[in-house]
Order: sequence, then structure tokens, then C-alpha cells
Amino acid sequence: MSWDDIIRPHLEPLVPYAPGLRASQVRERSGKDVVLKLSSNEHPCGPVPMAIAAMEAVLPWMNRYPDGGAGALRRKLSQRHGVPIEQVVVTNGSNELLRFVAEVLVRPGDEIVYPWPSFVVYPMVANIFEATHVKVALDDGHACDLDAMLAAITERTRLVFLCNPNNPTGAIYGRDAFTRFMEAVPEHVVVVVDEAYFEFVTAQDYPNGLEWFDGERPLVVARTFSKIYSLAGLRIGYGFMPEPLAQALDKVREPFNVNTVAQIAAYYSLDDEVEVRRRRAENQEQKVYLYSCFDRLGVSYVPSEANFVYFMTERPVEVFQALLEEGVIVRDFGNAPALRLGIGTPEDTAITITAFEAVAARLGAF
Ligand SMILES: Cc1ncc(COP(=O)(O)O)c(C=O)c1O
Repeated sequence: MSWDDIIRPHLEPLVPYAPGLRASQVRERSGKDVVLKLSSNEHPCGPVPMAIAAMEAVLPWMNRYPDGGAGALRRKLSQRHGVPIEQVVVTNGSNELLRFVAEVLVRPGDEIVYPWPSFVVYPMVANIFEATHVKVALDDGHACDLDAMLAAITERTRLVFLCNPNNPTGAIYGRDAFTRFMEAVPEHVVVVVDEAYFEFVTAQDYPNGLEWFDGERPLVVARTFSKIYSLAGLRIGYGFMPEPLAQALDKVREPFNVNTVAQIAAYYSLDDEVEVRRRRAENQEQKVYLYSCFDRLGVSYVPSEANFVYFMTERPVEVFQALLEEGVIVRDFGNAPALRLGIGTPEDTAITITAFEAVAARLGAF
């Protein structure tokens, strides 16, 4: 018996997701006491106090299965966004939502159109469900090029992923481009607007995908509690989609896919709007400090609407390594001439700027 004969052959060429280095690994190797993990677009602060208290209070009840329908949280999201509860879906991270949508829609050979470079899960789900990949390059501003994505749609396109702000570049497409796209996209295509970084955006021209959501047209809007709400470790995301699609997702998901602690934490996190506003403002301030450091050091970067900044370097391997030695973990993309730096607290920004100055002094140029 050979495992190669048993495991589905289309999985063979695929490679598992490679997580970045953990702070503890780098601490051991670099000998630095302070190591900043700025490689996974996490929020530097913990969950909001109300969420922590609610999580602690629910721990003695972990002998019970979760509410499989995530009723209380879906009701709250429904009220908050003015979307009927039947069109609100809660998943084990928004990652799971992206996968489920593909699982219920895509047949082998269907085309999935997605931007590139962008979130690694889009090609992953295309691989899992044996779709044909249609990668569309970003525009000159490093945002999804919606006109080019529209032009890439064919009769065989089943799904289009849009990422706004785009990960890893942080750039957004604006209202006019989104309106043009939504007015022209054919009805046989399901559009998934991935807004994982929605709450960080400050640009006036940012189009909220939900403005186009009417519960009828084939549009899915995906959001997450992993980023501004700091619940990445619990795995909880959500989305809005027409009811027939939501019902199809109910058929493929595990009955208790979202755990109780995650549901409770997400529920109470939604109440702390003051903290969300504070986090957005602080994130914006930190980006401005970093931009001024980059300008001073001659590092070019993409202005970001998210909690990370994509900066250019001709020597990504050396710069990645040099930053690591300074105790700053960033995200690399193989040989791509750029790296992605997450935004931390003001203290983290000060340490990061010192690290960049030290690397510039050591390597000369970026
Ligand atoms: C663009 C984008 N979408 C979705 C996700 C998934 O987030 P989660 O599964 O933690 O909700 C991420 C995480 O990094 C992301 O960058």
C-alpha cells in the first residue's frame, strides 16, 4: 500500500501554509529580550476588558457544546448591520468562511478570479476544490485592479475574491472603481469582498461592501474578529450572504464549528466601540511615524489603510534577517522585493524605528 495511491492526487503538489516565526523562537536565537512579532497582522493589545471578563465567566460551562447556530451573536450582528439574521453567518475565523463559500460553489475546473499578490487563502481554496486559478495583478497603487478583474471573468468563472484593504499591500480600491465593478459583474459570478481590515480604514473613499448587499445579488461580505478586536487566537469571523448560500454553508460546516468562548468574546467585543475608535486612531498615528522613518531612510512603501505596511527592498532576505537580529519579525514573500511590517503599540513603533535605523546603518541601503 502506498499513501500516494490513496490520498487524493490533486493534493500532492500543494504545500502547507507556512506560519511565520514565533517570538519565543527568535528570542532564543537572537538573544534579544524584547522581540516584536509584527508578521501576522495581529493587534498588539489583548481583547477588550468586557470580552475578557465574559470569557472568564463562561469557562466553568465548557462541559457543554456551543450554540451551534451562534444565535445571540448573529442576532447582534444582524441588528448592528441591518441585515436579516438568516443572511448572517459566523465561522471559525473568516478563513473558514472563504473556504466554505468555495466548497459549496466550486466544481473542478471552475475559474476563481483573485488578485495577486494577496491573501494566500484564495489560491489555497482554489487548489483544494480543483478550481482553475485566474490571478490578476494589482494596479499601479498595489490595490485590486477591479477593471482588470472584470475583464478576466469568463463563462466559467464561479467566484471572484476581492480584498479591500489588500493583504499584504494595505492599499484600497475606491468607490468609483467598486461601483463600476458591481454594475458590470455578470450574475453567474459570486463576488466575495474580504474586508478583514475594515475597522482600520480611515480613507473617505473606501467603499463598504455592505452598501451593495441586498440579500439577493450574489455578493458575500466577509469580516473578522481576529484583527482590531484581538481575537485571532479564538478563531472567529463572520459574513453576510444571501440566504440560500448561508443555508448551503450550514450543510457543510461542522455542527459546532464556533466555540463558546469565541462567541461570547465576540459578542461583548462589539460593545466597546470607544476602544475600536481608539485603536483605529492609534494605528493611524503609528503608521504616520513609520512613514516618516521610511522617508528619512529612503525606504519606499505603499500607504496603507490596514494595520501593516508593505515596504520595498531589493534585498528582502538580508533585510528580513537583519531586522530579526534587531528583534523585529516581519513577513517575507520568498523572493518578492518587499516585506510586510505590522503596526504595534507606540512603544513597539519606537523599537521598530530604532531597528530600521540600525539595519540601514549596517546594510547601507534597503
Ligand atoms: C485578507 C484576509 N482575510 C482573511 C483573513 C483571515 O482571518 P481570520 O481567519 O483570522 O478571521 C486574514 C488574516 O490574516 C486576511 O489577511
